[in-house]
Amino acid sequence: MTHDQPVNRDGRPLRLRLGVNVDHVATVRNARGGLHPDPVRAALLAAASGADGITAHLREDRRHISDDDIQRLMGELEIPLNLEMAATSEMVTIALRHRPHAVCLVPEKRQERTTEGGLDVAGGHNHLTPVVRTLCDAGIRVSLFIEAEQHQLEAAAAMGAPVVELHTGSYCEAAPGPQRDRLLARLQRAAAAAARLGLECHAGHGLGFDTVKPIAAIAELMELNIGHFLVGEAIFVGFAEAIQHMRVLMDEARSQVSAP
Ligand code: PXP
Repeated sequence: MTHDQPVNRDGRPLRLRLGVNVDHVATVRNARGGLHPDPVRAALLAAASGADGITAHLREDRRHISDDDIQRLMGELEIPLNLEMAATSEMVTIALRHRPHAVCLVPEKRQERTTEGGLDVAGGHNHLTPVVRTLCDAGIRVSLFIEAEQHQLEAAAAMGAPVVELHTGSYCEAAPGPQRDRLLARLQRAAAAAARLGLECHAGHGLGFDTVKPIAAIAELMELNIGHFLVGEAIFVGFAEAIQHMRVLMDEARSQVSAP
């Protein structure tokens, strides 16, 4: 089956982009309330180590990334910034002020430890539509973070969002075996459906060295966003080496893939 996905000259899908999420560099910094380690310095190191973009989630409670971090990321980065945020008027104002390359809209609950599920695009239509439109009109590439479900994909396409990011959290948390395989198959089906609907498809959440390759091998995916594992692995091997190794695993998985 062919979709309108861009391909290289040899017919393979374009290189899978790696967005490095620096939120948890800020988590460590904020544990002591000082300036070290600086997520902007980490973002510059990530760019020098093979990241194609930087992702940062400005949460309503500012528990990790701060407004000043976003300001400095916009000023200092030479690769695209993907600003993750809730679809609130406060966050829309901030996004319009900074105009990052991309905004990924995510659900946000105050008590959660991390983004627990995807957006209910199908159910939240009235709330999300004007936010997507406002950000798109400002020239920002908008993605919706969703579960790998057909009705969410259809709602995202109907809303006019150009990009979806599939939540890989439950696939990563499942023990290797039939359950993980089922969740992988669901992600594969969703990525193919996204392409058929004309949506650019990304994926992320919870990915590590053990889980990335089957995801990177999904031909319709254009970008993975990975953070917590890389920041944790940096303790053992350094941030640059962790990113470079992730890049190698992604490229290895991609080299086996033919165009969708
Ligand atoms: N993509 C989205 C939409 C996210 O909310 C997150 C977590 O902030 C990630 C990717 C990265 O997840 P992790 O830090 O588990 O790699």
